[in-house]
Amino acid sequence: MFNNILTEEKENILIITINRPEKLNALNEGLLKELSMVFSNANVNENVHAVIITGAGEKAFVAGADINELNKLEPVKAKDFAEFGQKVFGQISELNKPVIAAVNGFALGGGCELAMACHIRLVSENAKFGQPEVNLGIIPGYGGTQRLPKLIGLGRAMELILSGDLIDANEAYRIGLANKIYSSAELFEKAVELAKKIVSKGRIAVSLSINAINASLNLSETEGMKYEAANFALTTSTKDFKEGTSAFLEKRIAEFKGE
Ligand code: COA
Repeated sequence: MFNNILTEEKENILIITINRPEKLNALNEGLLKELSMVFSNANVNENVHAVIITGAGEKAFVAGADINELNKLEPVKAKDFAEFGQKVFGQISELNKPVIAAVNGFALGGGCELAMACHIRLVSENAKFGQPEVNLGIIPGYGGTQRLPKLIGLGRAMELILSGDLIDANEAYRIGLANKIYSSAELFEKAVELAKKIVSKGRIAVSLSINAINASLNLSETEGMKYEAANFALTTSTKDFKEGTSAFLEKRIAEFKGE
């Protein structure tokens, strides 16, 4: 159905594979449009409870925006180009369901930005992260200057973006860019395992947690606390809340229905 990505739904988990392995899964305009469609649908599709994004092949998650397209940009087009990518990655970070990046190799430029737009990053031992845009005479345009400092701190973000250096999986883990490191062989299976674990929880609670955590990026602490309290209050209106608390008190495993 799509030209640049593969999608598969398995046990309420939507698996998206960026599928241009011959170009190390570089992001072109068509690919971003396809991602946008998939995430619009995932947001409202009742059957999708979690999403995993990975790259086709053994070498790359995504090696950046397609440099053939970048090469043709002029300012007006470039603004649209950046804003469209930011919008698509915003759809990912604001999805009301968990999104796990299974980073199976290079995550450079737009690839690092895509991984950062996801809620959790599991990475393979051969993963390499970087924002090498300065090597091309440009700056990150899909959210890198905004998300990277929030994830790893201002000084480290400055160093990565200004030097264009690549870092390996261990360094990405050390500075908080990677949540966990696995061998290439087990990475995907571990992503599915984590997705299933999250899916087994109260779905509305998971969704409202993502929503409140994301709100912390834009609100003052006082406003954020109010936002959290409102989302907390909302969870007490759900059947899952009654089931979760009752199951604990009755010493049994909760069976959440996402209601
Ligand atoms: N855009 C377009 N094509 C890309 C690409 C990108 N971002 N990254 C890799 N490719 C293409 C290469 O041009 C090559 O295509 P070809 O076989 O038709 O020549 C193919 O993918 C394989 O890449 P190659 O460079 O031969 O692999 P490598 O193992 O020698 O190097 C990288 C891997 C990731 C170090 C190197 O491809 C690279 O530096 N890519 C660009 C990274 C970048 O600057 N990204 C940020 C863009 S904002």
